[in-house]
Amino acid sequence: MNVIRFSDLCAQGKVAAKRVFIRADLNVPQDAQGGITEDTRIRASVPCIQMALDAGAAVMVTSHLGRPTEGAFKPADSLAPVAQRLGELLGRAVPLVADWVDGVTVAPGQVVMLENCRVNPGEKKNDPALARKMAALCDVFVHDAFGTAHRAEASTYGIAEYAPVACAGPLLAAEMDAIAKALLAPKRPLVAIVAGSKVSTKLTILKSLAANVDQLIVGGGIANTFMLAAGLNIGKSLAEPDLLDQAKAVIEAMQARGAAVPIPTDVVTAKTFAADAVATVKAATDVADDDLILDIGPQTAQALAAQLMRAGTIVWNGPLGVFEFAAFENGTKVVAQAIAASSAFSIAGGGDTLAAIAKYGIEAQIGYISTGGGAFLEVLEGKTLPAFEILGRRAGT
Ligand code: 3PG
Repeated sequence: MNVIRFSDLCAQGKVAAKRVFIRADLNVPQDAQGGITEDTRIRASVPCIQMALDAGAAVMVTSHLGRPTEGAFKPADSLAPVAQRLGELLGRAVPLVADWVDGVTVAPGQVVMLENCRVNPGEKKNDPALARKMAALCDVFVHDAFGTAHRAEASTYGIAEYAPVACAGPLLAAEMDAIAKALLAPKRPLVAIVAGSKVSTKLTILKSLAANVDQLIVGGGIANTFMLAAGLNIGKSLAEPDLLDQAKAVIEAMQARGAAVPIPTDVVTAKTFAADAVATVKAATDVADDDLILDIGPQTAQALAAQLMRAGTIVWNGPLGVFEFAAFENGTKVVAQAIAASSAFSIAGGGDTLAAIAKYGIEAQIGYISTGGGAFLEVLEGKTLPAFEILGRRAGT
């Protein structure tokens, strides 16, 4: 999709002394005291802010934090810890501005953070009056919040309609480029890993990918439902028997294209769901009625690893087993290491997936790690995200 890129505007000198409004996604996890426990999204937002400062802009940056009640700001909603962390990363103070909708004072070469945009009444519903006020604050609106690209809110969508110029920041553009590389023009074979507890939450993704990928590797509770669809006993394992027909439809759609959903040939089982439960490796055909399948078996893991080594492109969402428990982490670990060792272009996203990538220390070997949670999933569902739709429209495409 054709969008205006902020990097191009900067390179063309069109940003100097302009008021630039950056919508970032700085929605980071916090502990009970408000301390930031994981700052990836803040770090990922720095290049855009630095680019704007280097170009001589007067810079405003905002984000949502959590899901506050509009019009009822509480101290816990404040972006203060985020402004503090951003300041450390930029090496300069980042003043926090409250009640900013009707006007912001910021000079070229300065950056201010505008308090949690989700406390503004009308934000969630994309109120045009609010969006127009925000648009009036700037000359250039920069959408750099991929994690929020699936939301059409006043600070992500409405402002882009009314701002004099609306463009994609470098993070949004990088996400867009990585997704296009993986899904629109992939080097084949294209292998997708979709894992998680429920087929129901990822059914649209499975159906969408079934029309495109060469191998669709399923894991976790999703794999259990597919094993059931393949006629295997899964004991007491987590599954959704009411979705068997849907799972069969995915398998058949893949087969009709000469593609496949590999069904595990062996599994790791336990009698209880616990970190210290006794783990037993058995053939997929030998699962007992009181067994819980908590991981794929070593033979299956090796077979999947071999497929991943031959892949041209890999899309990864979800761990293959209960990787938080040492006895049931092998499947996820072997697959993670295969993705890391493969020469394929790989893109990964989703909270659990990022935790697995961190656990096995393979960040540097993944082609692109998405900052999106829900946004990444909606891309896999084949949806055009509102951010790309509006920015494409504003670019005249
Ligand atoms: C996320 O954490 O996935 C994004 O920041 C979006 O948050 P939301 O689901 O509250 O819109």
